[in-house]
Amino acid sequence: MKSDDRLAAVIAVVVKDDRVHARFLNTFSFLEYIGFRKIVKSQRAEIVTRTLLTHALEECRHALLLKKLAVKLGGRDFDFYRVETMFCPEAAKTYFQELDHQCDAKFAQLDDLERSKLVYLYVTWLIERRALDVYGCYKDNLGGSDLAPRVNALLAEEVGHLCAVEAGIAAGDPQHAARSAQFEALEAALYRDFVGAMAREIAIHRAEA
Ligand SMILES: [Fe+2]
Ligand SMILES: [Fe+2]
Repeated sequence: MKSDDRLAAVIAVVVKDDRVHARFLNTFSFLEYIGFRKIVKSQRAEIVTRTLLTHALEECRHALLLKKLAVKLGGRDFDFYRVETMFCPEAAKTYFQELDHQCDAKFAQLDDLERSKLVYLYVTWLIERRALDVYGCYKDNLGGSDLAPRVNALLAEEVGHLCAVEAGIAAGDPQHAARSAQFEALEAALYRDFVGAMAREIAIHRAEA
């Protein structure tokens, strides 16, 4: 799942201007925050494990890290998830909610507990793969910036989440090989919409600046 040229073009523009860069970081902090909330809310307490709590904690930490970097570059305005401190937050929310919703629909025939477990695993799998792709592309554009080691630490944790979830899917879904391609296509379409919205909003922002 390599990032498309559109994302690479967006990031190349973003890193050249501190305030644009801060909005980009706060947008991804927002996505991490949504991810954190979803993990916490999606599972019944009786099946919450150390692995799940660690995952939630680390996604919250990613939201915090990216927000700290946004504040460092853009100032205290970025300490909030206000619309004007992000790019296309509605599209970001839609990406995540639709992914969740469409994956959930694929498992409609299962009981609640089994369905929520599999939806969590597949949504996490898709998100982690995308996160590695986006943050990898972002890191490549940071060059020797002092932000790069912070992004490296985040990437290492995302790799850990991906490994854990791949093991969970292999163990929990005998049909995972057949299902994976379908889920990948579903996520890719939603992601294209999100990056398209972000590219358009950044272009408008730059034209008005
Ligand atoms: Fe994350
Ligand atoms: Fe993650």
